[in-house]
Amino acid sequence: MKQFTSVHDIKSIDWALSMAREVKEDPFGDTPLGKNKTLLMIFFNSSLRTRLSTQKAAMNLGMNVIVLDINQGAWKLETERGVIMDGDKPEHILEAIPVMGTYCDIIGVRAFANLVNKQEDYNETILNQFINYSGKPVFSMEGATRHPLQSFADLITIEEFKTVKKPKVVLTWAPHPKALPQAVANSFAEWMNQTDYEFVITHPEGYELSKDFTGNAKIEYDNRSAYEGADFIYAKNWSTFNDATYGKIISNDRSWMVDTDKMRLTNNAKFMHCLPVRRNMIVSDDVIEGPNSIVVPEAANRVVSAQVVIREMLRTISG
Ligand code: CP
Repeated sequence: MKQFTSVHDIKSIDWALSMAREVKEDPFGDTPLGKNKTLLMIFFNSSLRTRLSTQKAAMNLGMNVIVLDINQGAWKLETERGVIMDGDKPEHILEAIPVMGTYCDIIGVRAFANLVNKQEDYNETILNQFINYSGKPVFSMEGATRHPLQSFADLITIEEFKTVKKPKVVLTWAPHPKALPQAVANSFAEWMNQTDYEFVITHPEGYELSKDFTGNAKIEYDNRSAYEGADFIYAKNWSTFNDATYGKIISNDRSWMVDTDKMRLTNNAKFMHCLPVRRNMIVSDDVIEGPNSIVVPEAANRVVSAQVVIREMLRTISG
C-alpha cells in the first residue's frame, strides 16, 4: 500500500476487517517490521485521538515517530504555485514536502477543508502535494473531504457491536455552533456503501452531501422515520456542500440533537460519534453517558485502523 486516502485504497472491506482482527489479536506481533523505520505525522489542524492513536499504532509496530504541528513552531507554508512570496509565508510547501520526505519512511497528513474554496477543498490540494512530492507512502489523518482512518475504525466498531447480520445504520446530521467540513460524513457514507448494511442518511433539507460519497444511500429528511428500527445512530455535524452556500450553516435546529426521545424509536441502537462532540448540541448528556454509547471503544479502534494501514505500508516498503 503506497497511499491511504479513501476506502478505494484497501483491497476490500472483508480484507480490512480480517487485518483488523489480526492486529487486535496480536498487537505487538509485527514489532520487527518497524525497526529503524520512522513515521512522520504532519498536522495542519488540531487533534487528540488521531495524534495519540496513530502514534500508538506506530509504536506497536516498533517504529520511531516524529510529530510536526505546522502552525506551532514551523515556518508558515505557502501552498499556491506561482505566488510572489512577499507576504508572511517564508517557505513553500513544494520544497518543504520533499525535505520532510528525506527524514522519514512513511508520512501521515492532517489537512482539513478551508470551507472557502470548494474546488480547492475537493481537489485535496495539500494531501495530493504530499502524495506527489514526498517520495514516501502517505496516509490521510483527515483530509478536506474524507477521514478514512476514522471510518475504518467505525466499521470495526459496528462489526464488534452489531446484534444482527445486516444492521440498520443511520448517519444523522446534528447542530453545531461552528461550520464544520463534510469529511467525516462523506467518508462514513463511502465506507458504509461498501457494506451490505441498510444505510440511511438523515439531515435537514439543504445539507445534501455529494453524491460521489452518498451513492445510493437512502436520504430521509424526516429524522424520526430514519431512527425507526435503527441499530446504530451515527451523529455528525457538517456544513453545506451545495455551491450557493458552500461551507455555511443554514440550520441550527436543536430538534436534530440525538436525545433519549428519538433513541426510543430505534432497535435499542448504539450511539456513535467520532469525537470531539459538543454535548447538548449534537447529543444529550444522558445518551452519550448511557449504556448504548460506544464512543470510547470506537475511539479505541482508531489504534487498530491506523496499525493496519501503517503495517501494510511497512510491508510494501520492505518488499
Ligand atoms: N475523531 C478524530 O479524528 O479526533 P481528533 O480530531 O481528536 O483527532
